[in-house]
Amino acid sequence: MKVSVTTISVAELDVDLLLILRTREQSDGAMSDLTSGFGGAVRRAAPDFSGEPGVSLLLYPETGSARRVALLGLGAADGVTNEHLRRAAAEGARLARQVKAETVGISVGDWSVDAEDASQALVEGFILGSYRFERYRTKHAEEASVQRLVLQAVDKDKAVRRGAERGRVVAECVCSARDLVNLSPDEKTPVLLSRAMERSAKKYGYLASVWDRALIEEEGMGGLLAVNRGSVEPPTFTVLEWMPDNRRNEHPVVLVGKGITFDTGGLSLKETENSMDAMKSDMAGAAAVIGVMEAVARLELPVYVVGLIPATENRPGENAYVPGDVLRMHSGKTVEVLNTDAEGRLILADALSYAKTYNPEIVIDLATLTGAAVVALGNHAAALMTSEDAGAADRIAALQVAGERTGERVHPMPMYEDYAKQIESDVADLKNIGGRGAGAITAAKFLEAFVSYPWVHLDIAGAAFLRKEMPYRPVGGTGFGVRLLVEYLREYADRRRG
Ligand code: BES
Ligand code: ZN
Ligand code: ZN
Repeated sequence: MKVSVTTISVAELDVDLLLILRTREQSDGAMSDLTSGFGGAVRRAAPDFSGEPGVSLLLYPETGSARRVALLGLGAADGVTNEHLRRAAAEGARLARQVKAETVGISVGDWSVDAEDASQALVEGFILGSYRFERYRTKHAEEASVQRLVLQAVDKDKAVRRGAERGRVVAECVCSARDLVNLSPDEKTPVLLSRAMERSAKKYGYLASVWDRALIEEEGMGGLLAVNRGSVEPPTFTVLEWMPDNRRNEHPVVLVGKGITFDTGGLSLKETENSMDAMKSDMAGAAAVIGVMEAVARLELPVYVVGLIPATENRPGENAYVPGDVLRMHSGKTVEVLNTDAEGRLILADALSYAKTYNPEIVIDLATLTGAAVVALGNHAAALMTSEDAGAADRIAALQVAGERTGERVHPMPMYEDYAKQIESDVADLKNIGGRGAGAITAAKFLEAFVSYPWVHLDIAGAAFLRKEMPYRPVGGTGFGVRLLVEYLREYADRRRG
């Protein structure tokens, strides 16, 4: 979708559908500011339009250059947020599809959100709301898709241009993460996923290097190798790197993404319904990291960022690892496996201890790690866990701020040392399950045992994949984490401005 900005008046905008977003306050009365451009249609519609969030009204004015006008509600003027704008734009995208519009205009108003942020939010909401995964449909719906989105702004057009461009890039990177999650598992085996990363890196100008099984063995990644043993497809470990000359950090921000390309549970086999049937999404952490790398490279953020993607299937094949196996991990620690379905923490542990070689400023991992995180927070937030040291409050605050701004919320869970008791093993340093209580936390406590730097763990099991649609997120992969971390990294760069 092409995105552009214009300063011509709303009435002159020649589009199939023009979106006009209005607050509650702007919606009582006759909306006389619009009647001069669009005439009677607006005057007659005005009493029916409340301006409440979620409310929309489609009009066919006789005057003005737009074929159709949609009024979209934003709620109270003093409460307009990025999220309201994204949701209204996504509702606009739904209407555009309904009327088969090919060109759409959005008028950027003077809301309590600044013009640059508002434009970014509008473009994100429109593109993300337009997203459909059609790769496997042989009968393509005969609907025109939007070719061009035009933001109309009377002033502040420079800020609008910056925001619109950033919104487009970030939304496209979210869509590429969604595509990877929605892809059939046989098209994203570890080797194929690694090739996709190499292609992405080449296309957008960052680096990717892929380790094969031999290199993974040489590095002693006992967790990744154990999980892989029941699969015919070999594992990969992929290192992604964005290291611009103007970087403001000496040591990198390292992002680790869980890359289980399909999780059967292994010998501790999952049930199919409402469990294994969604497990092509068990690489959503990896997909999010890939989306972030694409975004930082395309936006040329002045931050040194490394992405680490351990990838394997988890299957119960002939040589599969078994409950009772004791593994020697990359860090040298030993782990007693008591459930082969708690595999994510095993591959992440190896990636996290390898991350130390970068002497990282901070490491953030994203993982569809536990059903317990879904039970705790549903689809509306990721669980955030971090070591309870002096820096914890700042790390939590920075991610929560990014979460509120992007609508990709994170919620902190406690990491009391008491929880570590639940993963003590009778025979090894640790065991890979912690019993019924606090499953998301004991998984994080397990990871913490492999960490020796500032670290945040995001359990995205609920937020990464939807069985029922949410605003601007259709069923399937959501791309959760891309917008959150791009925002976090932009802020990180800003704080380090020389
Ligand atoms: N990939 C799953 C977690 C998951 C569950 C992701 C639901 C998305 C939706 C993970 O590998 C897993 O199976 N975790 C187990 C751990 C348990 C055996 C300790 C779980 O949460 O049940
Ligand atoms: Zn599992
Ligand atoms: Zn898993």
